[in-house]
Amino acid sequence: MKVLSALLCSASLFAAKPLPEFVQRGQHYQFLVDGRPYLVLGAQVHNSSAWPGELEAAWKQARQLHANTVEAPVYWEEIEPAPGRFRFTTVDALVEGARQHGLRLILLWFGTWKNGVMDYAPAWIKQDPQKYPRMLDRAGRPVRVLSPHSETNRNADRDALAALMRHLKQIDSEDRTVILVQVENEPGSLFTVRDYSEEANRLYGGPAPATLVEKLGKRPGTWQEVFGVEAEEAFAAYYVASYVNEVAAAGKREYPLPMSVNVWLKERKEYMRPGENYPSGGAVTNMLDVWKAAAPAIDVLAPDIYVMDYVGYREVCAAYRRPDNPLFIPETGAGGQFARYMFYALGDYGAAGWAPFGFNSRRAGADLDRRLEHVAANYRLLGPAAQKIIELQAAGALKAAVEEEQLTNVLLEFDRYDSVTYFGATRPSYGGWYAAGTENRTGRALIGQETQDEFWVMGFDARVTFRPKRGAKKENVQFLEVEQGRFEDGRWIRERLLNGDQTFFGVLLPPEGAVLRVKLMSY
Ligand code: DGJ
Repeated sequence: MKVLSALLCSASLFAAKPLPEFVQRGQHYQFLVDGRPYLVLGAQVHNSSAWPGELEAAWKQARQLHANTVEAPVYWEEIEPAPGRFRFTTVDALVEGARQHGLRLILLWFGTWKNGVMDYAPAWIKQDPQKYPRMLDRAGRPVRVLSPHSETNRNADRDALAALMRHLKQIDSEDRTVILVQVENEPGSLFTVRDYSEEANRLYGGPAPATLVEKLGKRPGTWQEVFGVEAEEAFAAYYVASYVNEVAAAGKREYPLPMSVNVWLKERKEYMRPGENYPSGGAVTNMLDVWKAAAPAIDVLAPDIYVMDYVGYREVCAAYRRPDNPLFIPETGAGGQFARYMFYALGDYGAAGWAPFGFNSRRAGADLDRRLEHVAANYRLLGPAAQKIIELQAAGALKAAVEEEQLTNVLLEFDRYDSVTYFGATRPSYGGWYAAGTENRTGRALIGQETQDEFWVMGFDARVTFRPKRGAKKENVQFLEVEQGRFEDGRWIRERLLNGDQTFFGVLLPPEGAVLRVKLMSY
């Protein structure tokens, strides 16, 4: 008996799932979960929804959304009601519920910072500013933000996150339901660009740290000399990032899950002033290098993209996808245009994950909010194709064609073919066909090149055509075979061949969506 249980025990140890991790493939990152590339089709609950009584509705709605991952907060004020005394009932309910509903979890640590303020710090911290100092603004007045220059603050947060990670290790190292931990939430300070406490002023008066200056390839000097007009913001970013780094590293020492930091962006925010229009010290676009230098324990700097226009949305994606940073979008809008923007994130910027914020609604028995219907359609269509999408992303062979106002046909270029995707009815016009756009601007497609003559076409409300590249010897194209089908466990299943009216004018993606495998030949 003893031998048998020892054997079983060693077998289960042997079978332990690997830790999730971000791995670099050339210029691109993949997120491995259970050792396989994983695309986070996420959904974030409202801030006050990670409570057992709220979760039933959320799980149901996450399933209706066809999400594979739920993002939910862990509240410092709840798990550490008195210094050093921890309780994890809310965390346990999250992990249990996610498992029961076949979902993965990303936990969001609402610790020292939440949206650039300290609101989730426990009451015993809020009430003792002598021991847990707040930042002082330029006039020397305390603000509602804990100081990143206080070791006491940092150690308190560090010990709490470490306790959480220790607990997760105990309850989840076999299942790996939790795949990523976000450390803090939109860290940085509102109300002041930096701390003006005596200690902070002393540090600001001295030289910028040599390690930082060196990593940035800059010449040594004071903060002002090294960073000019951005000096105070860079100072804040360095100290916030260093603080977060220590918290994250302590958590990883307990249980080394990948860790992220999310960002309240500056883009499209009024005058784009730190401490006013966005929290100062966060990993905004002009502070990414500082954060990368000061917070190596953080795997992903992740933009919360609420930018409403597609040009801005794409610019943010481009800024956060770097050779040293995977693109992962932990919060974004839920409405129709964001369902389109998801296609840019996946197709043009190799996103490893994407999640609308506040998907759950509390009303008893409520179904998924209608505003999310297009995101749900995306997840339903693209979820089963995720492995193929990830493979195409890694090969640099995936592109997006997305409809926007007055942008009703999109030219994409591949190795041997060019492709034009039309949205809405077309009519002849000077210079070619003009597409009038779809009724509700729902056109969106991903086009991936499998081999030189074979493409994947996935999406909604579009007509996709191809032509041999300019200058090719064979100037004409015809479809060799167009399959409509679906993926099941990574295997392609052909449901029917499209031909005749369904391909005469190009391949059609209907409003309800389709995944097509298109084989071309030129002649
Ligand atoms: C961004 C924050 O990270 C979320 O927790 C939430 O407050 C949303 N903003 C609300 O839009």
